[in-house]
Amino acid sequence: MKKILVVVGGGRPNGNTNQLVDAFIRGATKAGHQTEKISLNKMEVKGCIGCNACRYGKPCIQKDGFNELVPKIREADLIVFASPLLFWTLSSKIKAFIERFYCIAEEDCNPPYGRYEKYPVKDAALLMTSADDLFWTYEQAVSYYKFAIINYIGFRDKGMLLAGGCGDTNGKPQIDQTNHLQAGYEFGKTIY
Ligand SMILES: Cc1cc2nc3c(=O)[nH]c(=O)nc-3n(C[C@H](O)[C@H](O)[C@H](O)COP(=O)(O)O)c2cc1C
Repeated sequence: MKKILVVVGGGRPNGNTNQLVDAFIRGATKAGHQTEKISLNKMEVKGCIGCNACRYGKPCIQKDGFNELVPKIREADLIVFASPLLFWTLSSKIKAFIERFYCIAEEDCNPPYGRYEKYPVKDAALLMTSADDLFWTYEQAVSYYKFAIINYIGFRDKGMLLAGGCGDTNGKPQIDQTNHLQAGYEFGKTIY
C-alpha cells in the first residue's frame, strides 16, 4: 500500500482534469493504495516570493494552504501533479505549488552539479488534459515536468498521461468521449 497525494491545479469542478484525476484515483484505490486529492481551486497556495526566510531556519512567511500540505508531501510516496494545459504549459496554480517546494528543501553539503539543495525524494506522475492533440501540444508542459520536477527536484518519474482532444472550455467536458478515462484508471491501477 502506497500513499498517493494528487494535487489538482485548477480545471472545472467536473471538467476533464477532475474526471481524469478521479479515474486515476479509482484505479489506484482498486490496487489498494491510499489516496488523497487536493484541489488548488479550493485551497490557496501562492507562489514563492523569494524572501529566503526558510534559508534561515524560519517557516515560510506565507500563511496559506501550503503549510497544511507540507506534512502530506512528507508522508506521500507518490505526488501526482494534475493540470489542464493552459497556454501550452502547466497551470499557474500547480506552478505556484511547485515553487513552494523551495521552503522544504534542505542544505546539501555536496549537491550534484546544477542542484543547490536537497529535496525529499518522492515518486511523481503527471496528469494533464487539453483541447488540442497535436505532436507539439504538450512540449512545454513535459519539458517543465522533466526539467524541474524530475531532473532538478529529483523526484522519480512514474509516468505521464497527456489527455489531448478533450474539447475547449467553451463547451461541455468531452473526456468521456475519449479513451483517456480508461487509460487514467489503468494508470492508477498499475502505477506500483
Ligand atoms: C485559459 C485557458 C488556456 C488554454 N490553453 C490551452 C492550450 O494552450 N492548448 C490547448 O490544447 N488547450 C488549451 N485550453 C483548453 C483546456 O486545456 C482544456 O479544455 C482542458 O481540458 C480544460 O480542463 P477542465 O475541463 O478540467 O477545465 C485552455 C483553456 C483555458 C481556459
